[in-house]
Amino acid sequence: MDSPAHDVLILGGGGAGLRAAIAVAQSAPELRVAVLSKVYPMRSHTVSAEGGAAGVVAKDDSLDEHAYDTISGGDWLCDQDAVESFVRAAPQELTQLEHWGCPWSRDASGHIAVRAFGGMRKMRTWFAADKTGFHLLHTLFQTTLQYDSIHRYDEWFATRLLIDDGRVQGVVAIDASTGRIQAITAHAVILCTGGCGRVFPFTTNANIKNGDGMSLAWRAGAPLKDMEFVQYHPTGLPFTGILITEAARAEGGYLINKDGYRYLQDYDLGTPQLKPVLRSMELGPRDRLSQAFVHEQAKGRTIPSPHGDIVHLDLRHLGEDVINARLPFIRELCLKYQNLDPVTELIPVRPVVHYMMGGVHTNNEGATPLPGLYAAGEVACVSINGANRLGSNSLPELLVFGARAGLAAADYARSAHPPSDHVEAQAADEIRRLHTLLHRKGGRRIADIRVRMQSAMESGAGIFRDAKTLCDAANEIAELQSADVSLDDHSLTFNTEWIAALELSFMLDVAQAIVHSALSREESRGAHQRTDFPARDDSRYLAHTLIYHRHGDAPRVDYLPVTITRWPPGQRVYGR
Ligand code: FUM
Repeated sequence: MDSPAHDVLILGGGGAGLRAAIAVAQSAPELRVAVLSKVYPMRSHTVSAEGGAAGVVAKDDSLDEHAYDTISGGDWLCDQDAVESFVRAAPQELTQLEHWGCPWSRDASGHIAVRAFGGMRKMRTWFAADKTGFHLLHTLFQTTLQYDSIHRYDEWFATRLLIDDGRVQGVVAIDASTGRIQAITAHAVILCTGGCGRVFPFTTNANIKNGDGMSLAWRAGAPLKDMEFVQYHPTGLPFTGILITEAARAEGGYLINKDGYRYLQDYDLGTPQLKPVLRSMELGPRDRLSQAFVHEQAKGRTIPSPHGDIVHLDLRHLGEDVINARLPFIRELCLKYQNLDPVTELIPVRPVVHYMMGGVHTNNEGATPLPGLYAAGEVACVSINGANRLGSNSLPELLVFGARAGLAAADYARSAHPPSDHVEAQAADEIRRLHTLLHRKGGRRIADIRVRMQSAMESGAGIFRDAKTLCDAANEIAELQSADVSLDDHSLTFNTEWIAALELSFMLDVAQAIVHSALSREESRGAHQRTDFPARDDSRYLAHTLIYHRHGDAPRVDYLPVTITRWPPGQRVYGR
């Protein structure tokens, strides 16, 4: 086979992907790096991040405190060596972003402004009003434009990893604008494809977040790690699932039930009297707040709405000036999508699937067990998030580990071998498979399968699960996986139905990994709450779940001990 087209190929043009590309271009200008993204990079989901990015900067804060908050918030499932190196690197990455032009908000003295965030006991969340993701992504995107060595494949969709002699050697991908299918070879591939919230029916995640990279890696033999840990964010707008940032509560917003009562004071998350705001109960960790909502619902204290039960977020006491200065985007979202003004009205909210703590198993440099394959950002599980990620740790995570994966992949690519003809045969197989799918008729409709999958995941693997609900979901997913889909559109130009069919099969893989991982972990920890095993069980499960794909069979589950450095497992205590 000819020499690879690229040294390093990055799948995904969001924050992690662009940061990785810059790391390659800066550290190894001689290498040919490419970013392949199914959307134009500025449309990647990073753009929608609102609240901010955590990094120690204030004088009264310390790296150890950031590490401890992250580890206890993750219910002791984080690898502590990874967390320690992450908190050290986070402020450097955020400062680097400043130098590239990110307009971080400032305090009155001109220093970086920081705000409180859930589960963080110090103010350490940097922000750009409440459009942090937009500014962060824009900064990275404009920085990539300085490097001629970065090639872009915009609106291309990768369908398979090419493997030669156990090493990843590129991908097969569809150019969405023409329908052309092509092998794109590379010495190293970095997955930066984000999460998989669309596996569930109600999510903050964009339509593009289908677990593509997780499934690509899984099918190629890399294990997925800790997939049972699915984060529900406590405040999404009903119907659309649009995120109402935790920053709204950090600025002093209240959550109230149908009686106008700040119900979180009943859930060991503090009292309304606690000051300052960062110790208030509304800023408890997301897992606990979402679970509290379900308990309120069981007590009949939530409010029925056409799109499920809700509670209210009250910002009215903050006043128009604070809302305009600190939460302008929240006001805009409420006006446009909910037809209400938070200056004078209550915002209806409910828990919404937001983030995957699990993902492709990597080490601290972003390397997966599959030579030549790297992963960073939400698609990866390093793990710094354990059983429950703290809000505002994911933006620094994608910067820190995006950069590291870029450096590691560049090093690897320098000494890698070219692919053999075996790769050409694999690519030919994949091209045949894609053409067969494009012309398939007579099967089931994509939407029918997707809706059934989402509903099985919501009822089987939601905020609370047990063996019965998970087994039911596993059976439903297995049945859906065996169904053939049928396409009405057989054309080549921007055939979104063809892409949706491929995304659906990725989502079904991820759904299977979630339910089987959740079935296997017979304890409750962080975002994984088993009503049939309500206690945390460190004697059996102070360990990461590793799940392996098996063609045509149930996946295989294994465990890997958690790395503990300085913080032995303890109780998670909030509100004191
Ligand atoms: O609420 C938020 O702004 C979300 C932040 C995050 O997920 O890190």
